[in-house]
Amino acid sequence: MNLTIHSGSALQGTTAVPGDKSISHRAALFAALAMGTSTVDRFLVSGVTRAMLDALTALGVAWQVRDQRLTVVGGGLEALRPPLSPLDCRNSATTIRLLAGAVAASGIEATLDGSAGLCRRPMNRIVEPLRQMGVEIQAADQGGAPLHLHGRAPDQPLKGGAYLLPVASAQVKSCLLLAALAADAPVTIREPGPSRDHTERMLRAMGVRIEVAGHAVTLHPPREPLQPLRLTLPGDLSSAAFLIVAAAITPGSQILIRDVGLNPTRTGLLDALRAMGADIVASNPREMSGEPVGDLAIRYAPLHGTRVAGELVVRMIDEFPIFAVAAACATGVTEVREATELRHKESDRIAILARELQALGVAIEPLDDGFRITGGPLAGGRTTAHGDHRIAMSCAVAGLVTRTPVTVDGAEIIHESFPAFAASLQALGAQCA
Ligand code: S3P
Repeated sequence: MNLTIHSGSALQGTTAVPGDKSISHRAALFAALAMGTSTVDRFLVSGVTRAMLDALTALGVAWQVRDQRLTVVGGGLEALRPPLSPLDCRNSATTIRLLAGAVAASGIEATLDGSAGLCRRPMNRIVEPLRQMGVEIQAADQGGAPLHLHGRAPDQPLKGGAYLLPVASAQVKSCLLLAALAADAPVTIREPGPSRDHTERMLRAMGVRIEVAGHAVTLHPPREPLQPLRLTLPGDLSSAAFLIVAAAITPGSQILIRDVGLNPTRTGLLDALRAMGADIVASNPREMSGEPVGDLAIRYAPLHGTRVAGELVVRMIDEFPIFAVAAACATGVTEVREATELRHKESDRIAILARELQALGVAIEPLDDGFRITGGPLAGGRTTAHGDHRIAMSCAVAGLVTRTPVTVDGAEIIHESFPAFAASLQALGAQCA
């Protein structure tokens, strides 16, 4: 499937985005580990969350989704059943890494597999610390999936202790926190930066004692079963990001996005865009199921170049493809450094971004640990998604301001995270089909 987008239309109106992907994954899995029935409203129904739900079915968990309400009947960690065949995590790194932690805690035997793209992503970052905790786990030769976890006797706990992560990663942290549910003593995980903290917030709401000090989190293994969840999820800021940049770069635009998650571990893009001169106003701040949310008003304003490095990289880790489009529309130079992690996402986002944005006429230079962009007029043309939903949506948004239309090949991958992306842009006035 391809998606073609034409320039020339300002975006106007009020919209909302689907429920948060990271929180949807956690809600589905954690609800399965709770004792009792959980309900999750505004659950994201998309390719990657479907991978998690189907894996839960294979583990013997009953769930249903109706009108974006997920209902899960949890029976506690002990109720997970060894799957009859490998769990297919498809393209979803969150699914495989979080499931590995839950399977480790439950003590069942399972193999976790996925798409060729997923098998290329690094799993040593969870395999090594899980082994240190006493989990018997094997990865494929190159350190990726499939992962095989051996069973463990129910009376054999995992080891508590302190674990230092070489990279800030919420997926790794969450995997280890889930494994820690079955530890014999508290587990402390220290990271070099502020990765998203949805796991900590949700496990606390389920009755688990969790302490946070700087970038270290300590989980005390619970003696009671996890309590079921009653949640309404915030809109996904990482999906809203495409609409935010679309309005920020398209002259004459003014939009409002309601009920967006504004967890400070996720709002780096807003800080970076504001530093470039973007007109973004957050209003109506409130809490939704333990997460900060608000409404975002975005108005077109001329942008200028900036520099992104350090902790800001961690707080906007998924937003670099769309941030690069904003940088291409800014005057002057924008530099992103200390972002080597971008090479380990759904694609090598440094190499692929450079290749695809160059095809649209953007002056982008890939660097070992980031990229440099010099803003200027964009030409347009044909691009390829490379199996990466965020590359596909970013190139499409660039088409709002290019001289000729932009066509994105492989655009069906957008269904992984934001199935209503094109419809949302159209409803705001964009010409795309
Ligand atoms: C996620 C964490 C991030 C992010 C991914 C979702 C999560 O990955 O890129 O899209 O839900 O925990 P890392 O933890 O590998 O940085």
